[in-house]
Order: sequence, then structure tokens, then C-alpha cells
Amino acid sequence: MHLSLQYTGFLNEECDDTIIELSKLSIADQSHEVTVLDTFHDTSSRLATPRDYVLRRCGQADAILFDECYPDTVLKNCHKIGEGVYGEVFLWRARDGRARVLKIVPIAGTLKVNGESQKDFHEIISEIVIAMELSALRAPIAEINRHFDEGKDVEALNLHAIENATDVFNEVLAVKCVYGSYPARLLDLWDLYDECKGSENDNPAILPADQQFIVLELANAGQDLESYQFNNAEQAYALFLQVAYGLAVAEEAFQFEHRDLHWGNVLIAPTDQKYATFVLRGRALRVARCGVAGTVIDYSLSRVSLPLAAGECAALYNDLAADDSLFDAVGDYQFEVYRLMRDKLGNDWKNFEPYTNILWLHYTVDKMITSLRYKRTNTKIHKHYIDKLKGIKSRILDYGSAALFVLTDNEI
Ligand SMILES: Nc1ncnc2c1ncn2[C@@H]1O[C@H](COP(=O)(O)OP(=O)(O)OP(=O)(O)O)[C@@H](O)[C@H]1O
Ligand SMILES: [Mg+2]
Repeated sequence: MHLSLQYTGFLNEECDDTIIELSKLSIADQSHEVTVLDTFHDTSSRLATPRDYVLRRCGQADAILFDECYPDTVLKNCHKIGEGVYGEVFLWRARDGRARVLKIVPIAGTLKVNGESQKDFHEIISEIVIAMELSALRAPIAEINRHFDEGKDVEALNLHAIENATDVFNEVLAVKCVYGSYPARLLDLWDLYDECKGSENDNPAILPADQQFIVLELANAGQDLESYQFNNAEQAYALFLQVAYGLAVAEEAFQFEHRDLHWGNVLIAPTDQKYATFVLRGRALRVARCGVAGTVIDYSLSRVSLPLAAGECAALYNDLAADDSLFDAVGDYQFEVYRLMRDKLGNDWKNFEPYTNILWLHYTVDKMITSLRYKRTNTKIHKHYIDKLKGIKSRILDYGSAALFVLTDNEI
């Protein structure tokens, strides 16, 4: 795989030239319109199975025992914060003092979990790869911020040919492949959550002793947009721009479409940092944070293009064409957006159509005007920014991509 010299992402690992061979579900060679994916049994490939590929991505030779990887003694400061059909989410403050989120997904087993078949290794590759690549876009940001903090201006900044950078996507701290019984401590925490909040999931204690799991260790990115209480619409506006610039950067870097950016997938943490920094088309830009740091999560429906040898690209995506239930739901604009995306893409989910990001930004700005929680609404500043959000809502559908919106809209 050939990458630009400046690129510091996870793709530099030598195993990545095999990615095209490994996913049945969702990788397609765009230039040849072929879904490449029956070749992973090819004995000539260096990595024999999707499981091997995932292990390489995890930096592991083999799966490790779950309760040796996460022994009860290290899981002291841990509690369950959420769940989904895919599995469980815990918040954990590790010994290094850093809060992180563990997303634990049972994988490749025959037992139905939470009413659904478990994903196989080839079906989780795309989420792992997209999460790692987007996370790696943050690599130059700390250095650029140092430059600005020293009072230097943007003209004096040598970006060393970095074209795209953002820290708006969830930071991946580690991905682990483990197997064996669920650690006793996590089972206790699962019970506690069930008693306090009620769980809709199966108790993980039912899983067999040889169950395999993928554990995504993610930086804690705070609370979701639906539940966050903003001071006023100025903060919501600042968040909106962070998300819009982040999407623009990822469109440019990877032909990225999120495809599921509802208000549970935008997280917010309070921050003292004055600005969010982005590099877009080789130019460093700063956006006021106004006390909120936004993070985009959950790439299970997302789409990217990854560079291959000889200047070709592979599209990594989730083929939603056969997923009728996603398009049937009614009641919230969110569900309308799935249908609008399908129309725009002609139900061909391989293609890059950044207008889907615009649709989700339109949904987001609509939520900001109609449904978010604000502490102070009776102020001039709040009304001023609600008007600005209304202006965006009326204009944004005229742009073809998040990049075009942030680069050419004169009023943001
Ligand atoms: N980095 C994070 N920081 C804080 N909370 C998180 C983080 N990642 C996930 N969460 C919490 O866990 C919930 C579920 O995570 P996520 O959105 O990735 O999966 P999902 O939407 O439930 O499932 P799927 O991956 O199948 O779409 C989130 O809505 C959020 O509340
Ligand atoms: Mg989600």
C-alpha cells in the first residue's frame, strides 16, 4: 500500500496491503467495480483469515484471555454506561488516570446475543479500520496547537505537507481481541446497571467459556447531544462548526460519509481549550470551542475510500441495500434521513456521495433549533445564535458536501 510520506496513521502497518482480500461484506475495488472479497481463502495471501487480519490490527499474535487482559484488580474504577444490540459499554479509569470507554462486542460465536446473530470477523473489520484511521487524523493537532499557543501565527506554520487533520473523531486507544469468560467484575457491574436502570440485553454470563470478543478502548468523549445541557445556542453553534469541519476534513482525507450521525452519535465534553484546530486542504483553521469539545462516534454504517497500490482505492462500507428495517421507521427526521440518503445514493452504498454528510448536518442544525436543552434561552446572545442556526438550516442543503459548506459559506 502506498501512502504519502507525511501520513502517520495506522495504515502504515505493513499488513495493510492485504485488506482488500479480507472483507466479504463491505470492501469494493472502486476502479474495477468488483467486490473483492472472495479471495480471503487464497493461500497465497500472507494473512489467511479475517481473524488474522483483526489480530494484526490489534497488534496481537493470538486472542488473549479476557480476565487476564482485564483482571478484576485493574477494573476497580469502572462502571457500565450503556448498551446496544452489539454489546456493552463501560467507562473505566485505568491506572494511568485516564478515563476510557470499553466497547465490548462478542464476535464469531454461534449463540444469538440480544436476539441477533453475532458479527463475524470480516463484518467488524470495517468499523475497526474506519475508527483507527479517523482517530489517526488527530496526529498533527497537538503540535499545531503548541505552535499557536506560543503565539505564532498561521503564516509561520510549516505543515510539512499535512493536508488533513482533525481531532473531532473518537480517539482509539487500543483494540483488543480477547476470549474466555466475562471478567467477574464486569458481570457485577452489568448486574448493578440492570438493577438501577434495567438492561434490555442478555446477561453476558450466558456466553460460553470459549467466547471471543473485540474490545475497543476509546477516549471518554462525554455525553451525547441528546442529553447534553448547553448554556445557550452559542455553544451549540460552536459544536455544529466543529462537527462540520471534522466531516469536511474526513471527506477530503478518506471520502468519508458517516451515514448515521443522529444525536446519540455526537458526544460533548466541557473544555477550557479556546479553539478546535483543523487542517483542511493543507490550511490550518481554528474554530472557537465556546466551552464544548465535540466528538463524532459510531462508524458502523460509515463509508471510506482507502488508498491501494497503483493509485487505486478500495471503498469500505456497509451495504444497506438489503436492510429494509432501517428505511421503514417513521416519527423523527432521523428516519427520513436514511431514506433521503438511499435516494441520493440510488441505493448503491459503495459510492462516495458527500451530500449524505450535508443531510446529517441539516438534521443536526434542526435538532439544535428545535430540541436541544439550553440553560439560558432568554438572552440576546442565545437568540442571535438561534438565528444563525436558522440561517444555516435554510442554506445548507444547497451545498454538495461538508467541505464545500465550510470552505465557501460566507456567513459561518
Ligand atoms: N468514546 C465514548 N465516550 C463516551 N461514551 C461513549 C463513547 N463511545 C460510546 N459511548 C456511549 O456508548 C453508546 C453506544 O456506542 P456506539 O454509538 O458506538 O454504539 P451503538 O450506536 O449503540 O451501536 P452500533 O455500533 O451497533 O451502531 C453511545 O451512544 C455513548 O453513549
Ligand atoms: Mg451509536
